[in-house]
Amino acid sequence: MSHVPARAALSVLVLALFLTACGTGEREQSVVHPAGHGAQAVIGHWNTMLIVGVAVWVLVVGGMAVALFRRGDTEARRGPLFVAVAGAIIPAVIVVVVMAQSIMVLQETNPMDVGEDARIIEVEAHQYWWEIRYPDDGVVTANEIHIPVGERVRLELTSSDVVHSVWVPQLAGKVDMIPGSANTMWLEADEPGTYWGQCAEYCGLQHAQMRFIVVAHEPAEFDGWIEATSQPASEPSIDPDEDAPEVLAHQEELVWGREVFMSSSCVYCHAIQGTEAQGTLGPDLTHIASRQTLAAGVLENNRGNMAGWLIDPQGIKFGNEMPATDLPGDELQALLTYLESLE
Ligand code: CUA
Repeated sequence: MSHVPARAALSVLVLALFLTACGTGEREQSVVHPAGHGAQAVIGHWNTMLIVGVAVWVLVVGGMAVALFRRGDTEARRGPLFVAVAGAIIPAVIVVVVMAQSIMVLQETNPMDVGEDARIIEVEAHQYWWEIRYPDDGVVTANEIHIPVGERVRLELTSSDVVHSVWVPQLAGKVDMIPGSANTMWLEADEPGTYWGQCAEYCGLQHAQMRFIVVAHEPAEFDGWIEATSQPASEPSIDPDEDAPEVLAHQEELVWGREVFMSSSCVYCHAIQGTEAQGTLGPDLTHIASRQTLAAGVLENNRGNMAGWLIDPQGIKFGNEMPATDLPGDELQALLTYLESLE
């Protein structure tokens, strides 16, 4: 029996360590550090339930402790009034208060009275990445939702395959994405920054690696992002008047890299706006070089990781739809140079 308190203490310690691990580090996904309207409402409600729950627990366990130490004294001290108050009236008050707050939180997170002119961002889930479209601005991107800070935007959520769920713990509650049906949610960030999001419904082998980021910009910076991202890809060319050999070599490599892309299987699945590549199965690559991550938040976006992803996508993220690229080394390097130019 003497091991029981020691084991209990160890369990509490391990749990505390786990909880400390949640919500720290660069890729924070924490509901207890809200940075937006919806998440603020959710954590407020959670705190109410925590406080009420702890108070009830202390009273019940306290009452049991008192009863334990009153052995021998079996005469009932409280009558039907105590049973009615503690067993019916107080629980009823708690249920009504918590329900009222739930309704207020629902109104906060899913308001009915937001104007019709709210900015709409379409988010389509795929196994295992996110397609992001700004229908009013002609922008298509992937795995990054850019929003202006302090503005409530409306996400229209769909799925192309199975049920997924979108969740940005620091900004809002989660909403399911169901094939053949449209859901909506509101998203707002109070401070500029990068907030990590996660698929929150088991959707297959790489469910855990189906991440994304929300980047909240100052409004002017956001307009700049929309402006840049709505442009077609820059077209590589060789300047006949260029005489610096290094610059010329770079231009030649860009043109070659473009040719490699357009003549390989990349074009069946990926689009680069302004070119003949118009595939729609995989992420749009028009501004791939400006994105922070590859493979839906799995890799930092840099040349080395892009090379690794092209050569062995199944080794990095088994079960995703991307086939391996079997290009000779020099063609692969030219392709990487071209992809790096798509800012
Ligand atoms: Cu998509 Cu889990």
